[in-house]
Amino acid sequence: MTEPIIAVERLTKRVTDSTGTLTILHDIDFALARRESVAIVGASGSGKSTLLSILAGLDTPTAGTVRLDGVDLFALDEDRRAAVRAAKVGFVFQSFQLMANLTALENVMLPLELQGRPDARQRAAAMLERVGLGQRLGHYPRVLSGGEQQRVALARAFVVEPELLLADEPTGSLDFATGETVMDLMFSLNRERGTTLVLVTHDRGIAARCDRQIRLEAGRLMLPAEAV
Ligand SMILES: Nc1ncnc2c1ncn2[C@@H]1O[C@H](COP(=O)(O)OP(=O)(O)OP(=O)(O)O)[C@@H](O)[C@H]1O
Ligand SMILES: [Mg+2]
Repeated sequence: MTEPIIAVERLTKRVTDSTGTLTILHDIDFALARRESVAIVGASGSGKSTLLSILAGLDTPTAGTVRLDGVDLFALDEDRRAAVRAAKVGFVFQSFQLMANLTALENVMLPLELQGRPDARQRAAAMLERVGLGQRLGHYPRVLSGGEQQRVALARAFVVEPELLLADEPTGSLDFATGETVMDLMFSLNRERGTTLVLVTHDRGIAARCDRQIRLEAGRLMLPAEAV
C-alpha cells in the first residue's frame, strides 16, 4: 500500500480568549490517497477554513497530528514546515491574500522564484493566460475585480504544479463560466499531474465532481451515510 498524501489523526483545535474556550475542530481523523479529489462541505462556521489551514501547516492544532507525505508537519520547526509547504502544497485562500505591492505577474512568479526556477516569468505569464488574465499581467491587486484577484490566487497556487492543492471556495467570486474554466483546470491538474485536490465549497455541482466529500458539522467530521 502506498502512503497517503495526508493522514490526519485526532486533530483538535481550540482557541481561548476573554470570553472562554471554543473548540473549532473536534478529534478529526481521515486520510487522503494520492490523486484523490475531496470536497470539504459544511455550514458557515463549521471549521472548514481552519481545517484547510492546518492541513497546509499555516495554522497549528491544539492536539493531534498531520502527516504530509509521511512527514509529521507539527514535529518540524516553522522554517522546515514552510519548506515542506513550498515544495509540495499549493494553497488558495478564501480571502486571496495577494501581495498588494506586486503585480499579478509578480504574485504568480513568487512561488516559482522561491523554488529558484529560471523560467518563472514565462511560466507565470502562461498560467495567467490560462485563467483568462493574459491582459492583466501588470495590474496590481487593488485595481483587479474580486473574480480577477481570485484567478490570480488560483494561478499562483497552480503554477508550481503542487502534489497537494488546497483551495478554499475557489470559485466563490467567479461567474458560472469562469468558475467552470477554473474547475476544469483544477481537475485537469488532478488527472494529468496526479495532483491531490482538497476543495472547500458550498457548490454542490463542484462537490459532486470530487471523488468523495467530507462533511464538517460544528467542527466534527460526519461520516457519509453509507459508511455509518
Ligand atoms: N482565531 C480564532 N479565534 C476565535 N474563533 C475563531 C478563530 N478562527 C476561527 N474561529 C471560529 O471558528 C469557527 C470556524 O471558522 P472557519 O473559518 O474555519 O469556518 P468555515 O467553515 O470556513 O466558515 P465559512 O463557510 O463561513 O468560511 C467560526 O465560528 C470562527 O468564528
Ligand atoms: Mg471558510
